[in-house]
Amino acid sequence: MSSHSSIISTGAYLPERILTNEDLEKMVDTSNEWILSRTGIRERRIADKDEFTSDMGARAAEQAIQSADIDPKTIDLIIVATCTPDNVFPSTACYIQHKIGATRAAAFDIQAACSGFLYALVTADQFISGGVYRTILIIGTEKLSSIVNWQDRNTCVLFGDGAGAVILQSRPGVRGLLAYDLGADGAQTEILSIPAGGCRLPITPEALDQQLQYLQMSGKEVFKCAVTAMNRSAETCLEKAGCKPEHLRWIIPHQANFRIVDAVAQRLNVSMEHFVINLDRYGNTSAACMPICLHETAMAGKLDRGDLLLMVAFGGGLTWASVVLEW
Ligand code: ACO
Repeated sequence: MSSHSSIISTGAYLPERILTNEDLEKMVDTSNEWILSRTGIRERRIADKDEFTSDMGARAAEQAIQSADIDPKTIDLIIVATCTPDNVFPSTACYIQHKIGATRAAAFDIQAACSGFLYALVTADQFISGGVYRTILIIGTEKLSSIVNWQDRNTCVLFGDGAGAVILQSRPGVRGLLAYDLGADGAQTEILSIPAGGCRLPITPEALDQQLQYLQMSGKEVFKCAVTAMNRSAETCLEKAGCKPEHLRWIIPHQANFRIVDAVAQRLNVSMEHFVINLDRYGNTSAACMPICLHETAMAGKLDRGDLLLMVAFGGGLTWASVVLEW
């Protein structure tokens, strides 16, 4: 057996267009004060009409490839985490494989909503630690603006578009991914979903009339489940890694709501100084949150060899996931 996988490089792409809370005040009955105090979000990025999930993912991937200084043709596998794919099929991973010229790579998507990037990371680690593949590209990329109802103030203020990517390899002397915890609760599918567009409820004129092609969410329920599941998953993962919260340099939480992060910080008894936060600038970018945070932390020179990180996510499904890794 080879050793576990390490992140050898990162990349990110955020669309240029910024949509501020003040802009949203002109679109729905809301206020900067409400959005900021309830969520911590100030602004988010919105992709162009003809800029797709695969385009953003490819841009982030190219940056990670360049930073790792590898030939795209040496990539063995591409895993894309997204809940806003270009199409139902083919996979967004196949579009990206072509765009970046990774002609040797196998490619598939993973759908675990906001937990998707960590599900992908853990899946990739199985291939690397099992000795099946040497180099894997993982991308979290989302065009959430395409599934948000821009007339629904309960949801449209929360989300943004963007992409992040990492390259995984096994590196001598680096322990890499140390432990993980993945979970799901399929009894609660209805509190966060897009009802129409699959075989359960195809897009019909009636479905469109009821706007069922858009994301629907019971915010309060999701909030409560998120705090409980993220906290439990983080504790399980830390225990598996044999490490305590005080050993961590950074905790990268899912970037849904500052109040959720604050509640998790309190329960773990870790100061907010150790939490990476960018939701104020990008909102919730679902599966793209984690790799964007990782990239920004690495680019800011805030990650040194040997640092321990905890990443913890929560999303529709319901799904949750935690990973402890050594940088
Ligand atoms: N502007 C002004 N008022 C608003 C807005 C808005 N944008 N949105 C809702 N309100 C109103 C509501 O209508 C409600 O009014 P009412 O009392 O007259 O009915 C009032 O504000 C309070 O609403 P609450 O739901 O109690 O607000 P809460 O404090 O719970 O915050 C929020 C709402 C921000 C959605 C919060 O519940 C939350 O963050 N939930 C979690 C969301 C999340 O984590 N999603 C992640 C998963 S996404 C994925 O997996 C793709």
